[in-house]
Amino acid sequence: MDSPAFQAVPAETTLENNVSQVLEIQGKKIALVKTNDGLFALDNSCRHLGGSLGKGIVRNNCIVYPLHRWSFELSSGKCVNGGADEKNATHEVKVEKEKFS
Ligand code: FES
Repeated sequence: MDSPAFQAVPAETTLENNVSQVLEIQGKKIALVKTNDGLFALDNSCRHLGGSLGKGIVRNNCIVYPLHRWSFELSSGKCVNGGADEKNATHEVKVEKEKFS
């Protein structure tokens, strides 16, 4: 994980399973995804050409940027299809009192 500090997400944020979305937290865009395995947060900017991963497709515990198909593992940010040795930064997510940050 890349950031030790937790930041609250906007209170109105709702999550659907396997649907990515973009949140802006302290001026930084984050792709947030909920799956049956938990909540995952990655830097929104794709390591390829900066596409919005929050507008990506969630499949097999990865997020796929639809235009060029680079695919990043949700848990590690590791690129598993596309650029070898590329990795998108990930961020730890925790849920407190039924709210997440
Ligand atoms: S911008 Fe992400 S795959 Fe091209």
